[in-house]
Amino acid sequence: MNYKRHTVTAALPYANGPLHIGHLAGCYLPADIYVRYLRLKGDDVIFICGSDEHGVPITIKAKKEGITPQQVVDKYHKLMGDTFSDFGISFDIYSRTSGKVHHETASDFFKTLYAKQIFREEVTEQYYDEKAKQFLADRYIVGTCPKCGNENAYGDQCEKCGTSLSPTELINPRSTLSGEKPVLKKTKNWFLPLDKMQPDIERYIETHKDWKTNVYGQCKSWLNQGLQARAMTRDLDWGVKVPVEGAEGKVLYVWFDAPIGYISATKELVEEKRKSNPQSKTLDWTLYWKDKETRLVHFIGKDNIVFHCIIFPAMLMAHGNYILPDNVPANEFLNLEGDKISTSRNWAVWLHEYLIDFKNKQDVLRYVLCSNAPETKDNDFTWKDFQAKNNNELVAILGNFVNRTLVLTEKYYNGIVPEADTLTNNDLALLDEILQFPKKISSSLDAFRFREALAELMNMARAGNKYLADNEPWKMASTNDARVRTVMNISLQIAANLTVLMEPFLPHSAKKLSTLLNLHNLKWSDTNRTDLLKPGHKLGKAELLYDKIEDIEIEKQIQKLIDSKKMNDSQMPQPAADAQAALQQPKPDITFDDFSKMDIRVGTIVEAERVPKTDKLLKLTIDTGIDRRTVVSGIAGFYNPENIIGQKVSLLVNLAPRTIKGITSQGMILMAENSNGELSFVSPTKQNSNNGSVIK
Ligand code: 2FM
Ligand code: ZN
Repeated sequence: MNYKRHTVTAALPYANGPLHIGHLAGCYLPADIYVRYLRLKGDDVIFICGSDEHGVPITIKAKKEGITPQQVVDKYHKLMGDTFSDFGISFDIYSRTSGKVHHETASDFFKTLYAKQIFREEVTEQYYDEKAKQFLADRYIVGTCPKCGNENAYGDQCEKCGTSLSPTELINPRSTLSGEKPVLKKTKNWFLPLDKMQPDIERYIETHKDWKTNVYGQCKSWLNQGLQARAMTRDLDWGVKVPVEGAEGKVLYVWFDAPIGYISATKELVEEKRKSNPQSKTLDWTLYWKDKETRLVHFIGKDNIVFHCIIFPAMLMAHGNYILPDNVPANEFLNLEGDKISTSRNWAVWLHEYLIDFKNKQDVLRYVLCSNAPETKDNDFTWKDFQAKNNNELVAILGNFVNRTLVLTEKYYNGIVPEADTLTNNDLALLDEILQFPKKISSSLDAFRFREALAELMNMARAGNKYLADNEPWKMASTNDARVRTVMNISLQIAANLTVLMEPFLPHSAKKLSTLLNLHNLKWSDTNRTDLLKPGHKLGKAELLYDKIEDIEIEKQIQKLIDSKKMNDSQMPQPAADAQAALQQPKPDITFDDFSKMDIRVGTIVEAERVPKTDKLLKLTIDTGIDRRTVVSGIAGFYNPENIIGQKVSLLVNLAPRTIKGITSQGMILMAENSNGELSFVSPTKQNSNNGSVIK
């Protein structure tokens, strides 16, 4: 379908802490690249984001710091907004959900659903802290995990074993507000009947088989488990007040109000545009949310999939008149030096600190995070890789090509674009190759394959570099002027095209290169030409685009992480002395022949659901590279089905099929079991371990 305009959103980050590289890699960078690309094509696009300022994480932070929730969100809204803008994340608006327009919009949305009798009113029993005189959100209750015995499990999840919990499952629950044992008390809330809406949602998801495998797979997994009604109101005092009678002391569920934040921010943006530009008087926010010719795309991280693909669309359907998300290109997670990024353990690269340590190197981080983006599986950021990508790619390929071209033109022609002489067959072949890159990059960007698009951009610079190296104009400067003019002219045209193609990925460098070439306001469509710089055009003064990053700068960053780790380790309880003894005893020797009978392959989990009436079993669909097959695995105590879509696994593929609970299981996943009996996946860490790769 040909759309007239695009509404592109990036998940509203919680305003309870600074941003780190995981945020940028997960959703803001891909969203920004995509939007910049659309703008260069001349498309009508709005790019929406803002701070998510409600929800329990904010109130917890406020309690911890002894300040009000409003003070927390004011502080982080400013810090996050500044950081995004420093990194060139080009939102058309960065709004916030504590604003007036948002409160009104979210409130009206709720009232419409209420008037249409969409909600199911239900009285349930919730934990109440009699001392603090308030109902307790799941995160305000801790107790002993019924699965692993962790004494500090939260009411919604045990962070030690990963099990999802409900507060009433906790053994010895206590309130984090007063330390008291909470009591169960009746309270009324309004539920969105997702169970009743399942057929409509299923039909909607089925029209989007084109979504990324991880996104579609996670949706299927939720649907297969059967959707359940979810409360859209909460007994809390921080948030949008529930706008109906009998709801005093209640606010909208943060996941009800946050996505409506995209709509409120659009209203604010349109209002701003109208004020600043009289020609846009007729502009209307509804065009971006209600017109069938608008394409709605949500960029998010994988933990937000269910909210954007199931719950928000269900809300929009129930309201009526809204378009539904057409794509939700969610990324997986980025790890740091082999370990999960964690705010509480200070295991992160904080973006505001990066900006101080690596001044004017925003594009270097953009480059590294995009070239290593967790598009199809979790990925790892390492400082060594960061340094290598800067020194061996940005400096040695892209920067080197541009710099040699500009310096030589300055030297031989005083910085004036020379006229090309007769083109050789090799010149023509190169120009032909150059003209293919914009098409390749476009088609990768259209499919949300940002790593692939960036790799092509670098290939184009590589082709330019090779051309200079093959033709060696510096050896002919005094003997063959006609040839030198031709080589320099062609190299300059490549540099001009690069200015446009690199803009979505490396906006700061693109701007600098535009100044160096004295060439501005190019469009994506200009890249189908190789005569952007006319003979006689005066270039700016040559300057380096990128500098080498020295070992000492990287060592400093690694030391920062080592210090964090030491600090954490010193605060961790020491492992029991007999933990070693609890490990299983080694098994007797086997022959190599015994071992080689096993066919173990790399595979990816594409669907996962619980096996009904069991605690331990998950039914998994695994892409083995050879086929797609069903495997029943006893890991339900350690992993939730929706969290493992896209997980790479090691699979014994030639284990004879077995029937478990009526399901034929074809293979067995290898798991590591620690001395506490906890299981974790054994999976290859390299990106190039394709499904079907043999493990030996
Ligand atoms: O996960 C988060 O950080 C949420 N604050 C994302 C909200 S996205 C949207 F719905 F606003
Ligand atoms: Zn546990």
